Amino acid sequence: MLAKPHPHRAPASREASNPAAAGTGPPAHRQNTREHVSVTGAVMKFALAGLAAVAIISVAVLLVARRSATSEAINDARKLTASIAAGVVEPALSDALVEGDPAAVASFDAVVRDRVLGNPVVRVKIWTADGRIVYSDESRLIGDVYPIDDDKLAAFQDGKTRASLSELAAHENRFEPQNTRLLEVYRPVVTPGGTPLMFETYQPFDSIASSSRAIWLRFLPALLAGLVALELVHIPLAWSLARRLQRRQAERERLLSHALDASSAERKRIASELHDGAVQELSGQALTLAALARTASDPTIAAALDDSARATRRTVQELRGMLLDLHPPTLQCSGLTPALRDLAAPLLAHDVEVAIATRIEAELDPRVQSLIFRTCREALRNIERHAAATGVEIDLAAAGGTATLTISDNGRGFTPQARASRREEGHVGLDLLTSLAEEGGGRLGVTSTPGIGTTVSLRVATP
Ligand SMILES: Nc1ncnc2c1ncn2[C@@H]1O[C@H](COP(=O)(O)OP(=O)(O)OP(=O)(O)O)[C@@H](O)[C@H]1O
Ligand SMILES: [Mg+2]
Repeated sequence: MLAKPHPHRAPASREASNPAAAGTGPPAHRQNTREHVSVTGAVMKFALAGLAAVAIISVAVLLVARRSATSEAINDARKLTASIAAGVVEPALSDALVEGDPAAVASFDAVVRDRVLGNPVVRVKIWTADGRIVYSDESRLIGDVYPIDDDKLAAFQDGKTRASLSELAAHENRFEPQNTRLLEVYRPVVTPGGTPLMFETYQPFDSIASSSRAIWLRFLPALLAGLVALELVHIPLAWSLARRLQRRQAERERLLSHALDASSAERKRIASELHDGAVQELSGQALTLAALARTASDPTIAAALDDSARATRRTVQELRGMLLDLHPPTLQCSGLTPALRDLAAPLLAHDVEVAIATRIEAELDPRVQSLIFRTCREALRNIERHAAATGVEIDLAAAGGTATLTISDNGRGFTPQARASRREEGHVGLDLLTSLAEEGGGRLGVTSTPGIGTTVSLRVATP
């Protein structure tokens, strides 16, 4: 916002003398390369995202498969122990074994060695409910008493077969190899006399883990092959999709630029027809009327002719103004900064201080130039008609792919209500400008404080 009038600043622009004539698009081969690079980039991103998804899915599937294979293998160990308990151990049990009769122990031992021990069972124990080992193939354990742990107690109560990793440090396991993980599986059995006992087998856990690994390793190649095939099928699809999208976008841009060129050509044609036809015709009429007014003998007729001549000259003036709107000559021929200075001329003529600063790093696209020009024209017209300002600042900067234009005045400003009521009366200059900016991919901002001033700003991407 302005506090006081500003001195006229020298423009600091580096504009081409004829931006409309200068080519702004990149050469075709450069565009092709850029297109190719961005399609490759998009497909690469897609492929990498796909590979990451494949890796995540593989790891997740493998973890799930491994876990379910392990629990499957533990299940198998449980089933094996349950069937040995029912089919071999229980029929061979005797109450004499519980009492520690050596003959009963020896005959039971023969059955165990013959039908139970071996792959995968490496140790057998039979416990009483109060924790005494009545039999083990490791004879040094027979007669030992250990506290019954919760799992075994629960198995005694519910009769289910349970499994857990063996605690090798426990005293009852002192005869087991300490570097091999063992899975203990236990299942309640009953002697012919009705004494409840716990039959326990030990199986190497690593053999269970390796059998589970064998199960999931069987799935691994098929899984990986499937996922990689999926990825390979997707890549050409993604490639053609990206190419199609890119072609469509290029086509849209081409059509848009064609439409803009066509509309600009059409404006030029109308301007030239207006200039060569109606404007010339009316100018001639104005001269004729003025000459007739001078020669008319009747003063009433002379005055009427003079009025007509003046009205016709005014119409010609207005038409010339329209010609400028349709085909602003300074923008086309000298560039944006001189065109902005021309726009500010009427304000300067009314002693309004106008400071213009332009910092343009690279030549602007003609469409952007035209949008900037039209924004500036409407903002300055508004200042002239409504603001009663004494100072105006026009600032145009274009760098890093964005152009920003700000026009600030220190005039009377307005309230949103005032603007709304003017809008209802059909005064839509700023609204049209807002739509124009949006159509051109930009954004228009209008801020005003009554008694302080108004700022109109435009922000637009420069191709
Ligand atoms: N710089 C300004 N200073 C003070 N008031 C302004 C300024 N710019 C706009 N206004 C207020 O906002 C209203 C809306 O402006 P807008 O340009 O939309 O319409 P208009 O200028 O009245 O008519 P037109 O449709 O011819 O542009 C104006 O009527 C005026 O009251
Ligand atoms: Mg207006």
